[in-house]
Amino acid sequence: GRPADLAGRRLVISAGGTREALDPVRFLGNRSSGLQGYALARTALARGAEVTLVAANVALPDPAGATVIRVESALEMREAVLEAVENADAVVMAAAVADFRPARRSDSKVKKTSAEPDPIHLVKNPDILAELGERRREGLKPYPQVIVGFAAETDDVLANGRAKLARKGCDLLVVNQVGENLAFGRPDNAAVVLVADGDPVEIPRGPKEDLADVVWDLVAGRLA
Ligand code: C5P
Repeated sequence: GRPADLAGRRLVISAGGTREALDPVRFLGNRSSGLQGYALARTALARGAEVTLVAANVALPDPAGATVIRVESALEMREAVLEAVENADAVVMAAAVADFRPARRSDSKVKKTSAEPDPIHLVKNPDILAELGERRREGLKPYPQVIVGFAAETDDVLANGRAKLARKGCDLLVVNQVGENLAFGRPDNAAVVLVADGDPVEIPRGPKEDLADVVWDLVAGRLA
């Protein structure tokens, strides 16, 4: 069995992948399944935590006991996460958040015409993880005590991950080693957890629950 070392802790977890609408029926999206975020939620609940799960476009059953907030876009996720982190002890951003969204969402379905199609103009989405780190750095309460990000890197995993951890101001960055074996949609995962003030922790390929438990070990240690 798992330790009850997260009893009474309030945790916010984002999961899934955002969809950025082009018109009422079309969107720009990504292949995130939400499996890792849901594994984080289930394991945290098993360790006694109170969990708010901000889920973007996930086709998975709600983990029993979690408060699930469903969102679609990055802007909706930002609203939900910022509200949920009030009074939270830690946040884990496992969701794949779109870096860009279409500058304009058409109110009606974009028609197929004989003319050349219009280009899609994109604008930047807010970086929710970086914003949380910035709030904490500036002492802008409320902010969570522990901030955890995820990142997928294909090369120079440690150097790129280290730079990203510093840039985003998080405590832990779980870096997925993507490439020949994508993590998306698979039940298992391999990663290295970069620690702001410590040595990296290697997590061998295994169930997403195992990776989740290592993340919670590190989070529980920082909350203790
Ligand atoms: O910069 P990159 O997308 O690689 O960073 C990934 C991490 O940042 C993930 O934890 C993801 O949830 C978070 N993120 C975010 N807001 C964005 C983009 C990424 O919170 N707009």
